[in-house]
Amino acid sequence: MAPQISPSILSADFARLAEEAKAVEGADWLHVDVMDNHFVPNLTLGVPVVESLAKATDTPLDCHLMIEAPDRWAPQYVEAGAGSVTFHVEAATAPVRLAREIRAKGARASMALRPATPIEPYEDLLPELDMLLIMTVEPGFGGQAFLDIMLPKIRRTRELISKHGLELWLQVDGGVSASTIERCADAGADVFVAGSAVYGASDPAEAVRALRKQAEA
Ligand code: DX5
Ligand code: ZN
Repeated sequence: MAPQISPSILSADFARLAEEAKAVEGADWLHVDVMDNHFVPNLTLGVPVVESLAKATDTPLDCHLMIEAPDRWAPQYVEAGAGSVTFHVEAATAPVRLAREIRAKGARASMALRPATPIEPYEDLLPELDMLLIMTVEPGFGGQAFLDIMLPKIRRTRELISKHGLELWLQVDGGVSASTIERCADAGADVFVAGSAVYGASDPAEAVRALRKQAEA
């Protein structure tokens, strides 16, 4: 699959979300980081904001739920208009049931792994998913340094996806920038979240195009 870029609004101005979403039109997705101050030590936004944002942009929303009890909340993000919903396996009670519910409600189902969570125990779950997210920083904050030690996990996950002949996308999130995106693409990632590298740039739309180009190389 051609590489896709998903700018993270965590690095945007939250008082101007609609404009900030428009500033990256042309991106494949808009990455929305939902944090509850329990699963991660930070608090961002919830269902009502996602509902408004979905109406404010034509770019599909890629909601990354860094929250406890995703089994209870994730379906509400589909109803709010998300095109893709990612829950953390560390927080989910019944990941297979949850992925099926997200798909049944009409969104892409995605599962995330924190840096210390291995992929191997979840090999048999991969057919239930549309995307797997490998965190390349500890979740919670934008602007952290990319964890190179995650590259072998990205590689092993790509091998598992190929071994099973699956279509699922492999997303990386955290510290993805002009200086790290090529390493991620080489390792087998194909969906790239970038917060500070996009919204910290003077021209966010151009930053998206430049990152896509680098990932294609
Ligand atoms: C971090 C979030 C990321 C964050 C990435 O927990 O999941 O999506 O916005 O920000 P950068 O690209 O600045 O590392
Ligand atoms: Zn994220």
